[in-house]
Amino acid sequence: MPYAHITGWGMAAPEGVMTNDDIAKIVDTNDQWIRERTGIRERRIAGASDFTSTLGVEASIKALKVANVRPTDIDLIICSTSTPEYMFPATACLIQDQLGATKAGAFDLLAACTGFIYALNMGAQAIRSGSVKTALIIGSETLSRFVNWKDRNTCILFGDGAGAFVLQASERPGGVLSAVMHSDGSGGDLLTLPAGGSHAPATESTVHEGLHCIRMDGKEVFRFATRVMASATLEALDAAGLKVEDIKWIVPHQANIRIIEAAARGLKLPMDRFIVNLDRYGNTSTASIPIAMVEAIEKGQIKEGEKLVMVGFGAGLTWGALAAEWTGPLPSKGHVRPEQYRRLGRVRSLVRRAIRFIEGLLYRREL
Ligand code: ACO
Repeated sequence: MPYAHITGWGMAAPEGVMTNDDIAKIVDTNDQWIRERTGIRERRIAGASDFTSTLGVEASIKALKVANVRPTDIDLIICSTSTPEYMFPATACLIQDQLGATKAGAFDLLAACTGFIYALNMGAQAIRSGSVKTALIIGSETLSRFVNWKDRNTCILFGDGAGAFVLQASERPGGVLSAVMHSDGSGGDLLTLPAGGSHAPATESTVHEGLHCIRMDGKEVFRFATRVMASATLEALDAAGLKVEDIKWIVPHQANIRIIEAAARGLKLPMDRFIVNLDRYGNTSTASIPIAMVEAIEKGQIKEGEKLVMVGFGAGLTWGALAAEWTGPLPSKGHVRPEQYRRLGRVRSLVRRAIRFIEGLLYRREL
């Protein structure tokens, strides 16, 4: 049975930075409160030309470069997001088209902030089954478009960004070692975007009542998060036959420093074993774990052969953890330039649209 190795990684963050002081100009809050209660100093906010797909594509191209993999070699694209560009088509399909990943199947996965762990696990399982050789797993969010900028309980927390991993099959042991996924829909109302789905389609009144923005019971989500972070980590370790002492790093969902500190206490581990960058990005939901991972790898913190656990929680409610051994890129020949495929992908996309248009005209004439 092949192993699923993480062989490429990349991240993207919009250029626009919003500091706590900037938020204090919009709602009744201040830098000290936000820093002390959450650990967040600033977050990135999508500009007019940033979308969930474009951030995802930028992160993906970097990941493909690291792995030295052509977009045309990808078998499967999973985009984890709670802020898709449309109800449908899937954002994963927009990314597939922009990358020029011509043979890939593509779908979105929604498990909120736990989404990247779910998606990585699904990609790894597809590789382990032998049906897929190369998968691209993306976590991408433009949460700022769904934040109620009048609600100080939520608008201080969230930011935008994307992270992507390339997963490849290899006979060499390592890569994704185990994963656990959990859910409890009875807590769905604790963190929700109430309208815009089939339950409450958009009407004048849903817009007027602000039901298209994130609503959260912060205290309850906090309580739930502190309960599950350590237990999910231990479960994933147990499934991999590992102990806490065997792992070098914990990469937690970057929601609130106090939640991460509670997880550290629960696992009896010092904070320096936790990868933390929420001070600069805030909570980017499903993108937070890959963004934290990419920064840590690029800083040389996470090294080949080290074992780690990614652990997250989020709306749903969902939670989960994934244990992995970090191996880095597989040996490969030549030098791939994924951005060239992106340029060609644009041309290909235009040509396909033109052909579809002409075929449509001919088809209508035949009727
Ligand atoms: N600035 C200043 N004061 C504030 C702010 C603010 N931004 N927000 C709340 N307060 C006030 C409250 O009104 C309250 O005042 P009161 O005592 O006079 O009523 C006081 O500060 C304390 O409020 P709490 O809600 O008790 O603050 P708490 O310490 O719980 O922190 C927070 C709130 C940061 C939201 C915290 O509960 C939290 O992080 N919860 C988890 C949220 C989370 O992680 N969500 C993401 C889940 S992942 C996903 O799926 C997207």
